[in-house]
Amino acid sequence: MINGFQTKDIQTIRGDFPALQRLVHQKPLVYLDNAATTLKPTPVVKAVSDHYLYGAANIHRGVHHLSEVATEQYEKTRVTVQEFINARDKKEIIFTSGTTGSINLVAHSFGSMLSPGDEVLITGMEHHSNIVPWQLLAARQGVVLKVVPITDDGEIQLETVATMITPKTKLVSLVAISNSLGTINPIEDVIRLAHQRGALVLIDGAQAVAHQAVDVHALGADFYAFSGHKLYGPTGVGVLYGRREILEKMPPFLSGGDMIRSVSFEGTTFAELPAKFEAGTPPIASVIGLGEAIRYVLGHGLKKIENYEQQLLAYGTEELKKVPSLRFIGTAACKAGILGFTLGDIHPHDIGTLVDREGVAIRVGHHCTQPVMKRFGVPATARASLAFYNQEADIDRLVKSLHHVLKVFS
Ligand code: ALA
Repeated sequence: MINGFQTKDIQTIRGDFPALQRLVHQKPLVYLDNAATTLKPTPVVKAVSDHYLYGAANIHRGVHHLSEVATEQYEKTRVTVQEFINARDKKEIIFTSGTTGSINLVAHSFGSMLSPGDEVLITGMEHHSNIVPWQLLAARQGVVLKVVPITDDGEIQLETVATMITPKTKLVSLVAISNSLGTINPIEDVIRLAHQRGALVLIDGAQAVAHQAVDVHALGADFYAFSGHKLYGPTGVGVLYGRREILEKMPPFLSGGDMIRSVSFEGTTFAELPAKFEAGTPPIASVIGLGEAIRYVLGHGLKKIENYEQQLLAYGTEELKKVPSLRFIGTAACKAGILGFTLGDIHPHDIGTLVDREGVAIRVGHHCTQPVMKRFGVPATARASLAFYNQEADIDRLVKSLHHVLKVFS
């Protein structure tokens, strides 16, 4: 492999993921559902279990040793995340429950500052979590939701984006990498266009952070949302990055403990960032696990991971093309390791069930992107999504199992 990993590196990496050693239906597992969630490496699971076994104290509240250690580990992850995405200030890193939680925070808090007639622009390839919060905001406040259409290849056109950002556009919210199409969007260009016209930009980075280096400062993103569990980390934790001057102007979203400065029945004042947006006891162990996951990924290098996954994507695309009656859904020029497809008129759920019998895990369905399915005239797709522990042999097993599916339906 050029600029990627050697075969022996991949074998070592695979050794870090115990799930890859198991059998499913008496066959070695091939895990190709990484866009739904990645498997977890041993160091991440150990960091989480160590917290629960030896230091399960609450944070920011105790003067006792365990609480101090837990607080230190929790806050250390904030700095790890800050460095990971190159934010200027650790106060710009808010821990949330995941990408969905992050987008909802912005839709409620930033959204509450919008007026009737203000516009939010999204694209036709957004996950439901970047559609529904804006629809609810539109219903609450008369904000207008506009949608950039996508091409037959599953791309957005910058000329269209440019014409759709009007003086009323307050926010452009779009996905960095589509979870159903694999399209890598030109987010840098969209941010430039939006800023020229005075709009802010939220990037849904759920499918991006594990597969390419992210630099929010270089990008100029105003908000950047991602989840821990698609980044080899635990479920239930995610991040909202927001530019400090914007976060400072935004009102709290969830309220309760830890987000206040003082509370009385006459009135309450709020804590500084980031506490203002972290009400209640957070998922402490998951945050600690997220820190470990980021260190794990950085230990291998995101550039290397990206190169390797691109090589695997090219191999997968070529091999899947040879499968009779396979139609790719998502053929953008610039793609990440997500291969969505249909197979003749076989229902994707049948494909998923039959390949599972061969030990191959893929996702089938609408992938929480029903408008994308409608755009391509299909009820659902089958989707193989890659991680850097996958190998060409996994693609070969998928292809073999698809031939088996075709045989069953012939
Ligand atoms: N959004 C995740 C996926 O694409 C769950 O599968």
